[in-house]
Amino acid sequence: MIPTLEWLPEGVNFLDQTKLPLEETYVLATDYKQVATVIRDMIVRGAPAIGVSAAMGVALGIDRSTATDIPSLNAEVEVISRTLAETRPTAVNLFWGIEEIRSLYNRLVDGNTPIPEIKAAVVARARQMYDEDIAACKSMGAHGASLMPQQGTVLTHCNAGALATCGYGSALGVIRAAIERGHKIDVYADETRPFLQGARLTAWELLKDNIPTTILCDNMAGALMRQGRIQAVIVGADRIAANGDTANKIGTYSVAVLAKEHGIPFYVAAPLSTIDVNTPDGDAIPIEQRAATEVTHSNGKQMTPNGAAIQNPAFDATPAKYITAIITEHGVLRAPYDQSIRKMVEKVAAGPELATV
Ligand code: MRU
Repeated sequence: MIPTLEWLPEGVNFLDQTKLPLEETYVLATDYKQVATVIRDMIVRGAPAIGVSAAMGVALGIDRSTATDIPSLNAEVEVISRTLAETRPTAVNLFWGIEEIRSLYNRLVDGNTPIPEIKAAVVARARQMYDEDIAACKSMGAHGASLMPQQGTVLTHCNAGALATCGYGSALGVIRAAIERGHKIDVYADETRPFLQGARLTAWELLKDNIPTTILCDNMAGALMRQGRIQAVIVGADRIAANGDTANKIGTYSVAVLAKEHGIPFYVAAPLSTIDVNTPDGDAIPIEQRAATEVTHSNGKQMTPNGAAIQNPAFDATPAKYITAIITEHGVLRAPYDQSIRKMVEKVAAGPELATV
């Protein structure tokens, strides 16, 4: 399995995704500030991986604190959480991961737990979230595999694979599960300008698994759909609003509209931690704007004339009406999403782990 991130006694070790596919190197974060830098600089990226990284960052900060009393530790936890929360705005998993550790910390403090035990408990919870993320990906695969064509080509955009999670992947996990069940699937990976998550990361990890992969420039999908060469589309998500509108990597919206026009099913695969019932719709999802240099430069070389204005939104929101189904670890959601999402969230809050809806 691809080790995207790993808790070690010395800190959190991250596969440096900015160096792939040419170099497999690791970055060791020994304090929470370094974890924040790793997330901001996209050494780790992808919503579920960001969520677990943030949780590990808070746990690392608490574990390494030299505070000897709770008021001092409380003040540190505030700063740690804020620092991590300011790294990237769109993937709601980031805030979920921070909150998961913070709420445990608060419960332990309320129960007068001694500081060494608090430290052990938050580290254990962050490590458990890593395992739970892999289990959620496997479960998404199990729920979504039958939606994939028995034989054909599936298009994906960005990287929603092992690299974007703690392993196996969300969208790519569904493809992997279908192939494990005997489906004959080839993958088209959109290159995903400007950060090239598709060309660099999706292609790298699928080829490692011997899954036939073809890289497309982002403007090629429409022509291939028209020729009948794409049977399904599956992508991940960074935040799913209460009505099913879904933020994912910039360019996802265009692919979804094209899929609808050509009668091709368009699936989203994401864990429940990506659903944000407090955000009513796609217009309310904060969209990260990244540096112009990601667009103007390629491999350190300037590609555009000086003086051109640049847009670089990292994500877009796809309206729910373009989404055929949302595959989660608890089951497959269908329209009307405002109802199916609410029902699933309520059922999971009330019921056992991995409740199936
Ligand atoms: O900017 P990134 O690389 O963090 O964006 C990642 C995506 O948009 C993924 O598709 C999404 O996070 C789902 S990952 C399972």
